[in-house]
Amino acid sequence: MCGIVAYVGNKQVTSLLIEGLKRLEYRGYDSAGIAVMRTPEGATMETPGEITMCRSVGRVSVLQSRVEKEPEKYQGSLGIAHTRWATHGKVTEANAHPHIGKTKDGHTITLVHNGTIENYATLRTYLEKRGHTFYGESDTEVLTKLIAELYDGNLERTVQKTLQEITGAYAIAVICDREPHTLVAARKGSPLIIGIAEHAYIVASDQSAIVSHTTQVIHLDDYQVARLCAGPSDRKKTVVGEPWSVDFRTTTLENEEVTQEIQELELDLQEIELAGYEHYMLKEIMQQPDSIRTCLNGRIDKREGRVVLGGLTNLAKELVRARKFILTAQGTAYHAALIGEYLLEELAKIPCECEYASEFRYRNPIIEDGTVVLAVSQSGETSDTLEALREAKDRGATALGVVNVVGSTMSRETDAGVYLRVGPEIGVASTKAFIGQVTVLTMIALFVGRRRFLSKDLVSRYLDELDQVPEFVAQIVKQTDAIKACVEQVVDRDNWLFLGRGYNYPVALEGALKLKEISYIHAEGMPAAEMKHGPIALIDEGMPVVFLATQGSQYDKVISNIEEVKARGGRIIAVATEGDTNIERYTDDGFVFWVPSISEPLQPLLTTVPLQLLAYHAAQLRGLDVDKPRNLAKSVTVE
Ligand code: F6R
Repeated sequence: MCGIVAYVGNKQVTSLLIEGLKRLEYRGYDSAGIAVMRTPEGATMETPGEITMCRSVGRVSVLQSRVEKEPEKYQGSLGIAHTRWATHGKVTEANAHPHIGKTKDGHTITLVHNGTIENYATLRTYLEKRGHTFYGESDTEVLTKLIAELYDGNLERTVQKTLQEITGAYAIAVICDREPHTLVAARKGSPLIIGIAEHAYIVASDQSAIVSHTTQVIHLDDYQVARLCAGPSDRKKTVVGEPWSVDFRTTTLENEEVTQEIQELELDLQEIELAGYEHYMLKEIMQQPDSIRTCLNGRIDKREGRVVLGGLTNLAKELVRARKFILTAQGTAYHAALIGEYLLEELAKIPCECEYASEFRYRNPIIEDGTVVLAVSQSGETSDTLEALREAKDRGATALGVVNVVGSTMSRETDAGVYLRVGPEIGVASTKAFIGQVTVLTMIALFVGRRRFLSKDLVSRYLDELDQVPEFVAQIVKQTDAIKACVEQVVDRDNWLFLGRGYNYPVALEGALKLKEISYIHAEGMPAAEMKHGPIALIDEGMPVVFLATQGSQYDKVISNIEEVKARGGRIIAVATEGDTNIERYTDDGFVFWVPSISEPLQPLLTTVPLQLLAYHAAQLRGLDVDKPRNLAKSVTVE
């Protein structure tokens, strides 16, 4: 939700910031803006700068073309930039970041922000009384003006002081024209990474905007402030391109210095390129065989019937003795968590609950001795999931994370965890992360199950099948053209149902979510049996109803549900097990997507994949922006 990027160093900043914004655009894309510190010809370190700004509604490309029309206006080596997902205030240029405030002595403060300031209304009234006039409705404008109001000639100190007055979440980057070589950044609740390059610092919401400059990073913790300075070694003259001396420090809001460990980013630039695909979503679906392979790599020992999860080894005894697991997540990750509940109960025989993090965190949940809370999250930053995790920890639960982004807040705050290792997910609609989450949850269930009741042979058999999943998924994605041909015939229908039973029930939820979020088709997913309790009234002639109808313990029951829908004129699309000749009696030609035969607990790893492609083609056929669906943002870092 919103991406920020900022730079201070010895390079021209504008193109670098625009490139960073493009990388972060998946975090929000309703408006974008940039502010650059210009230093006059022959300026010394002490000469005040001049801040020029450009903001525009729409994508980063709109901002880019405006900036490129007047390149000389945006020359500088310190700048901040933002791509917005609106929270407070409409999508207008006035509400776009950066925001501006004027200090008492006439200097300019400019700021970009990711998060929400909760007490902005009170602060706004206070600032209005102090003579500040507001041009928009944004909470960020209030924060900027409060910094300006409190500015005492030292930006770092002022930011520390101001943030003590703030409730809410923030990752910010701030500059002031009186201190033309200083960038101040801070965070609480929203992600922020600082890249340490040669002669420069880059601050960004995530690693994708940093990796082309450096792999050395520090992760700020909540309530920490970083002051980053870069200036010419010859203090008398600013010469861009020459070696510059740089200096940074991190402090608490009370100005106590803290030492942050410098870490190495494990991200390859190639992983965040399109690699010839038209969309990230398609790339991420098609590359799932490789993602699963990397996720499994070195973690399963088929012969010994062993799952090796380094992150859990120290806690193994505690997990085995756990009395209850609570899985918590949002969105697609919640659907993965729901599958995790089924897996843990069936394979590890531990009572489980699965709950939306947004509900869990506010409803006074019961956490008793022996409760393990397991948060599932691609980003590791989703605000509700993070807060649920913190709430559970405060109440004494053991906190586990199943997270993709290395170094994310959740990965740092859990007692232990397992990374997905599926690489960066850029498409806003989650695909490979879901498959990675289910793969990891399967391994966790087998890891604990083997230490409780599962025999070595049984675990070996499951692992043998798990090992074949990448190859099976590779076969499934080859049906992409057939799936497209099917979707072409029904893409004009505005209401769809997705139905499944057992392990395929969460898959039905996920199929419906994928379709609605990128194609804007209304879709509902539910247990197939639930249909008769109301939703069957929706079925009319030609309504597409997608059935997860794979071979398994509930196959006959699913067939009965198919009959019921067919009798009412619904158009049946089925995901079925290869070799099932019966299913074609109910479907039109080409309306079956095939998956190889596999044990029921592992079926979601296969049955989800055709539904991802179905949603992708529906959005494509409707001419929509698959990677950037309206109103959405990748990482939901506000409540
Ligand atoms: C849907 C989607 C979202 C996320 C949800 C949680 O395709 O991507 O529903 O799954 O916002 O995000 P993470 O996994 O980052 O916690």
